[in-house]
Amino acid sequence: MKYLFKNHFIKLIQVKVLILPLILFTACRTEKPPVVGLMADSAMVVCAHPLASDVGLRILKQGGNAVDAAIATQFALAVVYPVAGNLGGGGFMLLRQANGQTDALDYREKAPAAATTHMYINETGEVSENASRFGHLAAGVPGTVAGLAEAHRKYGSLPWAYLVQPAIDLAENGFTLTKKEAEGLNEVQADLQKYNTEPPHNMLKENWQEGDTIYYKDLAKTLTRIKENGAAGFYQGETAALITEEMKRGKGIITAEDLKNYTATWRTPITTTYRGHVIISMPPPSSGGIALFQLLHATEHYTIKQSGWNTSETAHLMVEAERRAYADRAFYLGDPDFVAVPVQELISKKYMADRMKNFTADKATPSLQVKQGTIKESEQTTHLSIVDAQGNAVAVTTTLNGGYGSAVVVSGAGFLLNNEMDDFSAKPGTPNMYGAVGGEANKIEPNKRMLSSMTPTIVEKDGKLKMVVGTPGGTTIITSVYQTILNVIDHDMPMQQAVSAKRFHAQWAPDVIFTEQKSFSEKDSLELVQKGHIFRLRGPIGRVDAILVLPNGKLEGGADPRGDDAARGY
Ligand code: DON
Repeated sequence: MKYLFKNHFIKLIQVKVLILPLILFTACRTEKPPVVGLMADSAMVVCAHPLASDVGLRILKQGGNAVDAAIATQFALAVVYPVAGNLGGGGFMLLRQANGQTDALDYREKAPAAATTHMYINETGEVSENASRFGHLAAGVPGTVAGLAEAHRKYGSLPWAYLVQPAIDLAENGFTLTKKEAEGLNEVQADLQKYNTEPPHNMLKENWQEGDTIYYKDLAKTLTRIKENGAAGFYQGETAALITEEMKRGKGIITAEDLKNYTATWRTPITTTYRGHVIISMPPPSSGGIALFQLLHATEHYTIKQSGWNTSETAHLMVEAERRAYADRAFYLGDPDFVAVPVQELISKKYMADRMKNFTADKATPSLQVKQGTIKESEQTTHLSIVDAQGNAVAVTTTLNGGYGSAVVVSGAGFLLNNEMDDFSAKPGTPNMYGAVGGEANKIEPNKRMLSSMTPTIVEKDGKLKMVVGTPGGTTIITSVYQTILNVIDHDMPMQQAVSAKRFHAQWAPDVIFTEQKSFSEKDSLELVQKGHIFRLRGPIGRVDAILVLPNGKLEGGADPRGDDAARGY
């Protein structure tokens, strides 16, 4: 197990020395942010960009169901939010119909057929980090368009063309940038210059500013082919040819066959209970649902309502649970089409109770002492939450992986390719860009889906829909969804407050608590240090977008103030 930590421990010594004073000075007493979310009577969409939320709302008002709105919103995000919204990435859609039936669609990217287990390992035996993070070789076979077409085939009610058109209009007519989007584009300029074989002129500018208009004419043409031909408008014909030509120029390995063979897969959602609620979430190839359930199971034995929000007692329990859940993630989880994932064992309440037997309330367990449990047998993604007037609910998390993915824009087709290959374990014990380590179960194999943390989740109470929730954030996705659920169920926060509240994150390796500024009071951070925890201060954690169904049936939106996220409803 030691090898899993080798890249972390030198850093930890520095962290103990440097971060303790830092955290003590920065973490002054924090109140729960008193923010009220948007209220609506009938239907709501919450996502990362106001223009995409507007599109979703329009579809809902015109009688579209939650799946219709999710499709149109995602196409719109692919235009107005290229940092994460995408045609060239993948995602997961979790659905709960008004009658209580649930379904999950997996449109995660796949490794190309020519991918190999050691493809990112160089002559010295080390992982070439850049190769899995930037450029053509970093891209998995995109799944988004196949996913949206499949969701429409099974659940759509409005015509497909009608759902794609708003995105075409945005791409063709242009739209103005928010401050954050302008900043994001400015940050990615150098990568766009470096990793493209033909410059994406429409995205290149010395200094993008808030209010500038940007056009995506090539993307409008790609979207038009998708509007006219469905998934074939992407995986075959001109778009496919543009992708394979791009691959040839950039020495990538995605072929026409890879594109033609890609299919989205329906999976059975996993469910558990937590304090009288039913929690529904994403199964593998996401680790999100399993890890979330493990965390909730560990928490259920304790009255954290009494121990309090972000107190040292509550946070210590949560971090100790996270340490154990992420150790299991690294060992057991991978694409279920390739490896046997012991899902039922991992999400049984007894399993986590056993894992927590050595938990002590006053002392952190060094991660080196935490191994995976025993099974008897053998910065970008984006989330949208939607509830329609009939009470159907959809939670979608979709991603290019890193912000602007691989930075490769398919020339002539106008969309960015993902860098999802970095979510595989390139070499046991070598962390990926989220610091996650993994092993055999998540090694690279041809046509395999890389392990994800995306956790689109739906909560029900007494047979009725209660909450739709999810977030981007790499491995912090799971703990952000976990905290949001606890904030509502245990700490009685309204939706917006639960979303705005400060967050922290721990994931077994590295053996630290990542925290946003002011997540803990000075007293609680000192107590956590005394228990043996180590802090590492970082920027915003997650961008949760969620909807809560109130007892009177009204909907409350929670749009994360960490981004431009916006709730719209009627
Ligand atoms: O699937 C995953 O877990 C990652 N590719 C998600 C990446 C992500 O959330 C980046 N966002 N900040």
